[in-house]
Amino acid sequence: MATASSNTTPQKGFMGWLNKRLPVNAFLENQLTGYYAPKNLNFWYFFGSLALLVFVLQILTGIFLTMHYKPGEAIAFDSVEYIMREVEYGWLIRYLHSTGASFFFVVVYLHMFRALLYGSYRSPRELLWLLGMFLYLALMAEAFMGYVLPWGNMSYWGAQVIVNLFGTIPVVGPGLVEWIRGDYGIADSTLNRFFALHVIALPFAIALLVALHLVALHETGSNNPDGNDIKDKVGKDGKPVDGIPFHPYYTVKDIVGVGVFLAIFCSVVFFAPTFGGLFLEKPNFEPANPLSTPEHIAPVWYFTAFYAMLRAVPDQQLGALIMLLSILLLFLLPWLDRSPVRSIRYKGILSKIALGTFVVTFIALSYLGLMPADGVYVLLARIFTVLYFAFFLLMPWYTRAEQTKPVPQRVTYHA
Ligand code: HEM
Repeated sequence: MATASSNTTPQKGFMGWLNKRLPVNAFLENQLTGYYAPKNLNFWYFFGSLALLVFVLQILTGIFLTMHYKPGEAIAFDSVEYIMREVEYGWLIRYLHSTGASFFFVVVYLHMFRALLYGSYRSPRELLWLLGMFLYLALMAEAFMGYVLPWGNMSYWGAQVIVNLFGTIPVVGPGLVEWIRGDYGIADSTLNRFFALHVIALPFAIALLVALHLVALHETGSNNPDGNDIKDKVGKDGKPVDGIPFHPYYTVKDIVGVGVFLAIFCSVVFFAPTFGGLFLEKPNFEPANPLSTPEHIAPVWYFTAFYAMLRAVPDQQLGALIMLLSILLLFLLPWLDRSPVRSIRYKGILSKIALGTFVVTFIALSYLGLMPADGVYVLLARIFTVLYFAFFLLMPWYTRAEQTKPVPQRVTYHA
């Protein structure tokens, strides 16, 4: 590993003292100025750094919420009301956190879609993708438990539905459900343990996974919209000819993304924090009531595609299995895609139709999961569930059957 301090004039003062004891400069040089990223990274490459930004925002706002929030079935709802009405800027901190949760998923879904577009999950980046998928699972658990904390009526009934899904596992299911809840129903003990997991265990797990995700990324190097490898064309200086140092080029570019993102994010926080009941659902403005089921129990929008697949099947056990498989298939993507090329730019018409249909399918399922599970909605949910599975299960076939275009040796770049 080349160290910055070894090939530059020795630093004086505090930085010199520090670098002799901690390789700060060497680390920054290796990971930022010395890390070469493809020069053609486009719009779709904003979302990794934005996911990092939202994660930091969630931690910071979460710390301030935890100063005033009180877990416990008798006081949780009132403590959130207290934050909203009495704590100075409490409403802002809460809305930043609740809107941040939804934006986290917007950003992560666009980030994942980029990987689908350019085949970023393909070898040698399979582990990077798998770490991303574990991050996605951890984020789902984090968001679900966070949603239970305000102890509104949807918190309660949502937890009821999701925790009961574990009951469909043969033999161990019923015991497992009791173990998760720590009681015979969703109760005080459930709320307390969800709080512990939401503020300590899962944020730690997510931070660790993010670190591993970035280490894996820097080991293989970024993919790019052409899906070719910049390491294949190295100049006399040993650097990739199609690569540019991450700092200052991409740090500056990412700041533009951050600016645009914050403008959109703040507009929602200040003008539409509930987002018409999509980010904060109406029944959650009422306290949890075990005797009054909300008219339609639906999770927050980012889970509704999977919820629609769960309800598309009349048998609850089969529905839960379908839902589990729909997520597991995403893990297998690196091995299902058999195309000789990575990027959609050089794939054939079948892959393009399949990806387009998949996007429509995911959006349609997300919408159907918000609707009541009857009549035409169930029929449509069934059709789209079949299309969802077809995208993955037919992938080994259509990625090999189609005609692909030759991939250029150098990246395509228009200044
Ligand atoms: C907390 C959540 C996440 C954070 C903070 C994060 C962060 C990042 C960053 C900073 C990059 C490099 C910049 C970029 O390519 O946009 C990256 C790349 C990547 N991430 Fe994530 N990520 C997260 C979640 C995920 C998830 C859920 C997946 C997929 C399941 C994923 C898959 C990938 C892949 C495949 C790349 C390489 C893309 C390429 O080089 O073309 N990430 N991630």
